[in-house]
Amino acid sequence: MAAQTMASLPYSCTVLTTNSRPSSKPFSAKPSQLPTDSRRSHCFHVSCNGGTNQNPSAEGTVDRRNLLLGLGGLYGAANLVSDSQAYAAPIEPPEFKNCGVARDVQSNKILDVNCCPPVTDKVIDYKLPPVTNLRTRPAAHRVSKEYIAKFEEAIRRMKALDKDDPTDPRGFMQQANIHCAYCNGAHDQVGFKDLDLQVHNSWLFFPFHRWYLYFYERILGKLIDDPTFSLPFWNWDNPKGMQMPRIFDKTGSPLYNVNRDQIHRPPALLDLSLSNISDDLQVVVNNLSVMYNEMIRSVNSTLDFMGQPYRKGDNPSPGMGSSERGSHIAAHVWVGNPNNTYGEDMGNFYSAGRDILFYCHHGNVDRMWSIWRTLKTDVPKDITDPDFLNAAFLFYDENKAARACAQKAEGLFPLTLKKITRVLVPKSAKGKADEVLVLENIETDATQYVKFDVFVNDEDDNAKELDKAEYAGTFAQVPHKTKSKKDISNINLRLTELYEDIDIDDDDTIVVTLVPRSNGDNVTIGGIKIIPSPPKSA
Ligand code: C2O
Repeated sequence: MAAQTMASLPYSCTVLTTNSRPSSKPFSAKPSQLPTDSRRSHCFHVSCNGGTNQNPSAEGTVDRRNLLLGLGGLYGAANLVSDSQAYAAPIEPPEFKNCGVARDVQSNKILDVNCCPPVTDKVIDYKLPPVTNLRTRPAAHRVSKEYIAKFEEAIRRMKALDKDDPTDPRGFMQQANIHCAYCNGAHDQVGFKDLDLQVHNSWLFFPFHRWYLYFYERILGKLIDDPTFSLPFWNWDNPKGMQMPRIFDKTGSPLYNVNRDQIHRPPALLDLSLSNISDDLQVVVNNLSVMYNEMIRSVNSTLDFMGQPYRKGDNPSPGMGSSERGSHIAAHVWVGNPNNTYGEDMGNFYSAGRDILFYCHHGNVDRMWSIWRTLKTDVPKDITDPDFLNAAFLFYDENKAARACAQKAEGLFPLTLKKITRVLVPKSAKGKADEVLVLENIETDATQYVKFDVFVNDEDDNAKELDKAEYAGTFAQVPHKTKSKKDISNINLRLTELYEDIDIDDDDTIVVTLVPRSNGDNVTIGGIKIIPSPPKSA
């Protein structure tokens, strides 16, 4: 199972799982066994920003379970207080009405494209919905025929919207233009007419693209009426995924795009070091070195991986993180057609979103963020700066509503148990095996019979059987009289044996499924957390 903990509560809005079948697992090698090569150094640009020095190196990291899923907001505002930057402020969502021309960032030439989204004055803050359907992102090189048919149909419908209603923000070109507007200077920073809003080359890179894919995926699911639909990821950290996934290379398929480097069509081997060598084995080894370097070896701080701080009023592009400038840019450049003026499609940010492969590429970029967070290195994995957590973007959702999305999206709690709900909960410590799950401030109507069951990492949508390892416990209440009619209580469920039974001691997060059995409408859960087992007492 490859890993993904995309979780990271405060920021992630995605709720999904990646494929856990064995071969989507990234190539994993012990760091010490990986070659590194000091000769690299390739300089190339994706013209969105002035010069992205790419600096490849290194390797696949791994992770065990693909179980992942993120869900924002559990922690709400936990980290919001301590910033020393007196003048700092988070980047705000752009004002669509002020959207202007897009330029090629390198040459500064005005691009012949209007990439501004439809204007709206109605913007709703986005609140993460309760997790009801897990979405599993599959590795693109391993998808089934049925999946391909669905994916193609979803993209076909998205493309049809371009013709049927070019102003529908869910259309294929409208979606592609989001990337252009956020990258090629069409959006200004709110309050700073002279500063472009730029979502690359800084710590906004991962969260912006996570949100972008999040809505893209929901739109596709909506168009084919499948709320479980998920994008595939291009598993380029795995030697088996080191070519353009073939599903994108069938002429006539809606996934096909002619604006790609023709020399790099399958079975050409992806070259993340862009070193242009012909020894296949060396190319694979270089790719793994690129991965290892950008995930582990060169990363000495959180920002080394995530990218540099970018706040309101700052000049755009303060600096890319290792992943953005490494494998990420390399795959863009490698796919784009060098014979086109601006390397279209994938080779320039204004046009990258016109290639459906872009979203698949970014599925893996997002996965790298998740995997990185699970690595046992001593670099802290989360940015707690409020200017990072409160930075927000604007997207249209699957129902055409404009949504402002901050990384610390509003949380689920207090949660009324109207339906089966899944919640991602961090363990008290990675590798901690002896822990207790606490459901706090469970508020019930005391006159009602109430019952719900709790499962951990259960994939079953409506578990009826309790005789399984994932069953963690039950809350139940017999109707009784109290003065206030309301009853408030906590329950603690010991997880120690459950962990052993399902072998998840080493995970750093678990997924808790709450299944209402009776009168869930009358139950509100205040919060959920995992704590170390207290010492035994009577
Ligand atoms: Cu917004 Cu891969 O770029």
